[in-house]
Amino acid sequence: MLDVNDLMVFYENALAVNSLNLDVQKGEMVGVFGSNSAGKTTLMNTIAGLTLHLKYRELRKGGQRITIVGKQLFEGKDISNLSPSDRVKKGIVLCRERHPVFRDMSVEENLRLGGFLIKEQAKIEESIDLVYKIFPPLTKLKARSAGLCSGGEQEMVAIGMALVARPKLMLLDEPLLGLSPVMQAIVVQALKDIRELDVTVLLSEQYARPIMPHIDRGFIIENGTLIMSGTKEELMDNPEVMSAYFGM
Ligand SMILES: Nc1ncnc2c1ncn2[C@@H]1O[C@H](COP(=O)(O)OP(=O)(O)OP(=O)(O)O)[C@@H](O)[C@H]1O
Ligand SMILES: [Mg+2]
Repeated sequence: MLDVNDLMVFYENALAVNSLNLDVQKGEMVGVFGSNSAGKTTLMNTIAGLTLHLKYRELRKGGQRITIVGKQLFEGKDISNLSPSDRVKKGIVLCRERHPVFRDMSVEENLRLGGFLIKEQAKIEESIDLVYKIFPPLTKLKARSAGLCSGGEQEMVAIGMALVARPKLMLLDEPLLGLSPVMQAIVVQALKDIRELDVTVLLSEQYARPIMPHIDRGFIIENGTLIMSGTKEELMDNPEVMSAYFGM
């Protein structure tokens, strides 16, 4: 479904992603694991088109700071030059790190915004109902300003917004970051529910442990470079990987 081929991203002269190859097959849940500055966000933002968007914005201001090399293919087609919104229309939807929500808008207004590219109102309402089924705690928070919600509740809203955009491939950048174990379990269960809806999932995490039992395959990156990839079983069978990256 997704193929990232020889991707390199430079900010000035610093290499944030280095000759990275990664693939995601339809129906999979795939993890990208790496410590701070490994390049997880750069990778996710590049697949979603945000890095290209930032590059063009800086070019318009006269800067030439960002270089992107390599191809990204989605369902066999080259998407490397598409804008973020064109990628959303194709079904690639990113839930960015640290649960970005519109703080002054209500939970339900945030969810509705997730569907801003969807023309049929009925589809948006249907998706919002689905979000409340997947995250029951949000039902009681519909009218609350998202900025007043807890970090965990905001993460539910952020994932909900991505879901309302009707993804085929949902990208999640550190969805478990900063959440309590109870909230992590709720989000992990939600990701499993989302996958049941025929949504393919690519997520990044710094700490793999809570999500490890639920992924099909994983990629480990360090300083933008792929260190290892394999099925969950292959990763879990490797003691070095387990102690270095998973704290197990
Ligand atoms: N807009 C930017 N301009 C310049 N350098 C950047 C920019 N964004 C990221 N970088 C650099 O690229 C490298 C990779 O950063 P990135 O945010 O992708 O890592 P990460 O794995 O998401 O880290 P974290 O776990 O802290 O979120 C870092 O060295 C970072 O300083
Ligand atoms: Mg990051």
